[in-house]
Parts: sequence; structure tokens; C-alpha cells
Amino acid sequence: MSVSTAAAAQTVCRDISGALPVLGRDVTVPLVTGGEVTYAALDYAASAPALQRVWDDVAAYAPYYGSVHRGAGYLSQLSTDLFENSRRTVAEFLDCREDDQVVFTRSTTDSLNLLAAALPAGCQVFVFETEHHASLLPWQNARVSYLDAPRTPRQAVENLERALADRDPQGPALVCVTGASNVTGELWPVRELAAAAHAHGARIVLDAAQLAPHHPVSVRDLDVDWVAFSGHKLYAPFGSGVLAGRADWLRAAEPYLAGGGASRKVTRRADGGVDVEWHESAARHEAGSPNVIGAYSIASACKALTEAGFDTLVAREEHLIRKVREGLAEVPQVRVLSLFGDDAPRVGVLSFVVDGWNSSHFAAALSAEYGIGVRDGLFCAHPLVRTLLGSDPQTQGECGAPEAAPGEKSLNAIRVSFGAGTPDEHVERFVNAVKELVRDGARWNYRTEDGRCVPDTSA
Ligand SMILES: Cc1ncc(COP(=O)(O)O)c(C=O)c1O
Repeated sequence: MSVSTAAAAQTVCRDISGALPVLGRDVTVPLVTGGEVTYAALDYAASAPALQRVWDDVAAYAPYYGSVHRGAGYLSQLSTDLFENSRRTVAEFLDCREDDQVVFTRSTTDSLNLLAAALPAGCQVFVFETEHHASLLPWQNARVSYLDAPRTPRQAVENLERALADRDPQGPALVCVTGASNVTGELWPVRELAAAAHAHGARIVLDAAQLAPHHPVSVRDLDVDWVAFSGHKLYAPFGSGVLAGRADWLRAAEPYLAGGGASRKVTRRADGGVDVEWHESAARHEAGSPNVIGAYSIASACKALTEAGFDTLVAREEHLIRKVREGLAEVPQVRVLSLFGDDAPRVGVLSFVVDGWNSSHFAAALSAEYGIGVRDGLFCAHPLVRTLLGSDPQTQGECGAPEAAPGEKSLNAIRVSFGAGTPDEHVERFVNAVKELVRDGARWNYRTEDGRCVPDTSA
């Protein structure tokens, strides 16, 4: 980095300490029953709102935007510095080892597919059936073993140890595990699973999509080989994700995408073909023009979260979790889904079913009558949700009628999730709305449209 662009990049990368408000605090939405309310965004586990700081940092950089790694101009150099600084910031955020690589991807799904494409020949993969599809499915071309859902963290470690003990000890192996469930919010025993993996000569990748926004993630302390996460769940919705960790498998693999940026030297051969020397750095898997704004927004979020302090963020989130759990516990018709039990440590993600209610109908009423955005369904974790519900649904019930009589099994669930910037009022409104809906029923009629439950406004 030249002195002048280094200084300019430093100015653009200004201090982002302080509180963590998010965008959209004042957005109002119409209610089907009349009037408007401020929107209660309680679907952070799908996509969190942008941090105001991230937005401001991106806006401050926008006039300086330029091509990365390819331009001779000042702004191109500044943008390249910003991109590479962002890589360093992410490495610090994750407490990476000296020789780890940080690859910018599109998302967690992209990161795990990149790692799946970089597996050494003959690699065995071990993954719990409880994973999000992004962690469950990329390994189809490997020798993959799906492990049953454990009912305690201890059982998770035991299940893994048993599976690893039976594996071919000569070949490479990879364990893929989530840090925090996108369904129950429960924390998984990552450090213990990593120790078990390493004791059996396997490596481990941590799906931190739901963990990194809520808790500090230290690659060194957890002793995981790779970490994957998404910007849009980390308050940085600009289309980037991260795969960080051991360089050797990534260096040995064919580039994830072939193209400019990944290649160091390309020459025509005498026989008419083409020889390529690929980069050995992270650029090997970042062919094409990098998403500098996406990378910078993630770095900005990493700094903002670190400077706000995870102790403070976790304490605040615990307060919100307590409010939601205590509120839901007062409604006997509500069953909160859990693998590890009531006392399991968790992040601000909870799924539940309501006796006698179709979850899609319930979620639609929360939105249309209370201005509350939650999610309903199986949350891209079909095997886990079905295990928790004890169901095996092929179809979803029509939304107007209850899908399951009281005491019967539900076909899908409702998920509420929150984090930085969530005010008490949002979770209070949510708890009161649940109580009111259960007590009085919906005030509006709903119908199914394109598979979704929507207010019936035809009357
Ligand atoms: C635990 C977990 N892993 C992976 C993903 C996939 O993330 P993305 O859609 O950003 O690729 C999600 C998304 O909800 C998730 O919750």
C-alpha cells in the first residue's frame, strides 16, 4: 500500500465504535385492521437489518469506489487497499492463525460449497442431520455420513466420536457443524467437537452463520480449521460472505471459479492449448471482480461489533431472550422447540408451535395485525424441524383452518429472532400479540396464495 492511499483508506475506514443502531427503526407498515405501526423486525436469523454504522461507512466509501486489483488509478489502488484491509479485519475478528486464509465469498452457502469443492480426494465428511441445508447438502460428491440428532451436547460429542472411530483412519476427513442452530438458537459444543475431530485425525469447519452475529468466534480458541459466515446475517447486507481457515486444502484445490483474478499467468501452449498458473493466495478462489463493498461492509460490521463489545451485546440479548421465553411460558398452548432442553445456552433465535394453529396462519396474523415480521416453515433445516415436531409432512395445510387440533403434531413452526438494535418494545409487542391471538383468535380472514398465507382482502 502506498503511503498516500494507505492514509486515505484509513480515513475512509474511520473509527466505528459506539452504540449499534440499525436501519429501519422508524419504518412504518400498514395493518390490515387499519392504521400503521413501526415495523418490528424479528427475523434476524434470515437477514438482519444493516447496522447504521455499516451503512454510513459504505456511503462514505462510495464516492471512492473503484476496481480492485486491476486499475492503475488512485481510486482503484484505494479500493484495493480497502479490500485487503477488510480481509485483515475479518482475520482479526475471527482470531485467525497467522497462516490462515480469508476468502471472500457470496454467503455461508457459497463458502461451504467452496470448501466442498476443495476436499482432498477420498475425503469422508461427517455432518449432523440437524444442520441447515447449507451445511447439510454441499457434500453430496464426498463420502458423507449423516449423524442422528443428539439430545444433549454431550451426546453430540459421543455420536461424533463413535462415527469417527469407525472411519478409515488413513484418508482425510472433515466434520461440519453449526455454532448456533438457526431453528432453536441453541449453542453447539464446538470446542469439544473440534477436539474429538482432531483426536481422530479429522478437520472441522464451523458454520458460524448464526453464531458470529451474536457471540465472539475465535478460530484459535475453538481450534476449528475453517469458519464460514454471511454478511447479511452480520448486519452487512451487501452480498458477501467469508470462508476463513487453513490454507493447504484451499491452495491444493482447483480454483472455485476459473477466470481473471484467480490466475497469475496464462500462456498459449505450442499444441494450441492454454497453461494457467493459479494464485496460491485467497485470490485463487475469488475469480472475477471482487465485491469490495460487500467485503468492506463485513469488515465494518466486524469492527462495530468488536468495539461495542460482545459482553454488552450478549447481556442485552440474554435480556431479550428471557423476556420472550418468560412471555411464551405463560401461554400453555405454545411449545418452544429445543434439542438440548430449556436450560441450554442459546442466541436470540427461538422456534415454536401453537396448539391448534397453522404456523403460517399465525405468522401471517402477526404481520398483518401487529406489524411483526417473523418466519414460518421448516427454516431450510427440514430434518431437524421434523425431528423436533415429530412429524413427516409432505404438504402444508391450508392456512384458514387449524392445521393440527390441540395436542396433534404441527406440520411446520414459527421462528422469532433478534439481536443488535432490537428494542424491548418489539419483543413485548410480540409476546402480547401471541397471547392475544391465542386468546381471541385472528381478527381477519386469511387465505392461501402461492403457498403463502395472506390476509383475504377480497371481501
Ligand atoms: C446456520 C445457517 N447456516 C447457513 C445458512 C446459509 O446462509 P446464507 O443463506 O447466507 O448462505 C443459514 C441461513 O439461514 C443458517 O442459518
